[in-house]
Amino acid sequence: MELIRTVAELRARTAAARGRGLSIGLVPTMGAFHEGHLSLMRRARNDDGLVVVSLFVNPAQFGREEDLERYPRDLERDAALAAEVGVDVLFTPEAHEVYPSGFATYIHVEGLGEILEGASRPGHFRGVATVVAKLFQMAGPDRAYFGQKDYQQLRVIQRMAIDLDFSVKVVPLPIVREPDGLAMSSRNVYLSPEARAQATVLSRALREVAAAAAAGERDVGVLEAQALATIANAPLARTDYATIVDAKTLAPLTLLDREAVLLLAVRFGSTRLIDNTVLTPHSSIR
Ligand code: PAF
Repeated sequence: MELIRTVAELRARTAAARGRGLSIGLVPTMGAFHEGHLSLMRRARNDDGLVVVSLFVNPAQFGREEDLERYPRDLERDAALAAEVGVDVLFTPEAHEVYPSGFATYIHVEGLGEILEGASRPGHFRGVATVVAKLFQMAGPDRAYFGQKDYQQLRVIQRMAIDLDFSVKVVPLPIVREPDGLAMSSRNVYLSPEARAQATVLSRALREVAAAAAAGERDVGVLEAQALATIANAPLARTDYATIVDAKTLAPLTLLDREAVLLLAVRFGSTRLIDNTVLTPHSSIR
């Protein structure tokens, strides 16, 4: 596996691969790899000729109060894991390589980028959309792989790719969970043992609501109340939102009459967890 730090080197490497007729798969990450990341890399390895993983803790998507400084970083461990699953290129640029001095251009996805996580974390999706667009420009991928755990992020990126005519295919992949149901996340390491034990209420709430929907409950208010009641069983949990919205537009619903998604954002102390499940008449947690 090659470690590349500059855009010029990355371009040379992808151009050479393309010249040999290889497709390019990009897995954008911020590092601290877990099975969720590795599942994206394995899929890219399966589908593409050249697999590029970007590892960049993007300052533009962190708010002033957020955890940029304490975000987990371990390049050696991440590089070993990426090499193990057959990644060809680990692209780890410095901040000045991505945002040269005088940087002033941002992408703002109206609507989708402003609600839910966008409302709780102002500027977050502007930072995500901007860096992902830049990574698309730098790597020129045929396919780019994203986990469904960051469901709204996935929708924002899909919208941006359509609106700005990126030819890349955005490939969503399912949430990977710990054996007890907790969705894998780089932020799980911040949870105290007590909070970690209680954090399983998120996946329990998703499972229970999916089961109720599959059993025929269509009243979104009832289903949301059920999610809130389950989460309330965890004394340390503080719910930011537990909401059922249209799976594509993320518009609020009152009746479960189409494909929808239950989105959860719950704080345990200073750690904020998100999770979701898609709801269909016969849904179950995936
Ligand atoms: O999901 C992430 O890790 C980040 O938001 C992404 C997509 C790599 C952009 O920095």
